[in-house]
Amino acid sequence: MSISSVAVPPVSLGHEAEFAEDVRAGLTKPIQKELPSKYLYDALGSKLFEAICELPEYGLTRADERLLQTHSSEIAREVPGDVMICELGSGSGRKTRSVLQAFASRGRINYFPIEISASALAVCQRELSDIEFVGIVGLEREYLDGLREASARRRPGQKILVLFLGSTIGNFSHPYDAAFLRDIRAILRAGDFLLLATDLDKPMHQLIDAYDDSLGVTAAFDLNLLARINRELDADFVLQQFAHSAKFNRSTSSIEMHLRSKQRQTVTIRKAELTVDFDAGETIWTENSHKYSLAEVSAMTAAAGFQIDAQWVDREWPFAESLLRAVSTPDGMP
Ligand code: TRP
Repeated sequence: MSISSVAVPPVSLGHEAEFAEDVRAGLTKPIQKELPSKYLYDALGSKLFEAICELPEYGLTRADERLLQTHSSEIAREVPGDVMICELGSGSGRKTRSVLQAFASRGRINYFPIEISASALAVCQRELSDIEFVGIVGLEREYLDGLREASARRRPGQKILVLFLGSTIGNFSHPYDAAFLRDIRAILRAGDFLLLATDLDKPMHQLIDAYDDSLGVTAAFDLNLLARINRELDADFVLQQFAHSAKFNRSTSSIEMHLRSKQRQTVTIRKAELTVDFDAGETIWTENSHKYSLAEVSAMTAAAGFQIDAQWVDREWPFAESLLRAVSTPDGMP
């Protein structure tokens, strides 16, 4: 056994086996091949996503940030008392700064960024470490596991404010978006809060440009998933033989992202013990991004056991922040 294989910690071996299993399951689906979008965010993918957020065509992140910056004091006022702040998918944490500052101006707070990308988590902890009166505890976990863990650490009487920004909720295709909100609600208690960001409906050409930009950064981000499989699972995807594609599905009001095989080809993924054939034009589905109406946001959040206490909408790039309060539900959520 070589020294390097001894040195690999068991936790990353576990990750690799799970990655291989997920890739195998996704690429052997009979009708539509798919890959889970969470694997887009390795160290390089997280950097490419940061670059997407800077693109002129991708107004989403700027709208999110603008709203948070403008309304952070109001948000803090709406959430009184002793609170811990948990963020699902913090990324670099840049958007969160103004919210943390607003809360910290009234006393010490704890912030739990929950992030599957270890590299993004490290950046987040470093970037935000200068804010006075904020204790940061990074959790390298999937969203719900991290939230459960943070919740278990709350002090008596302490409330939770969950931040779920960036409209990541729209990446859970309907009805899983509503189901995921229910999962969050089930971990929370009545009186806890969720600040939910949702990208809203807008003209189709704007959406297509946002998800297929002229520089090709989004294409690189999407294709990096195949490059990651090559790197980590010893596969032989030829990236030039695949192309990123973004289509708007009007009936579901969603952008659908795919990687299209430009030709008939066969790919081998050694660590998944898998050989896959692609037809010319066949695609791998990598992500959906749903665009909401405000009515939909109301209905979805109410059904999940939340009440909208406040809502802020950006006019420049239609986008909403909804401050939701967990309320008791007929089916007995705590
Ligand atoms: N949460 C982002 C969104 O839906 C993710 C994203 C942006 C994305 N561009 C992408 C995912 C391209 C896959 C491919 O807006």
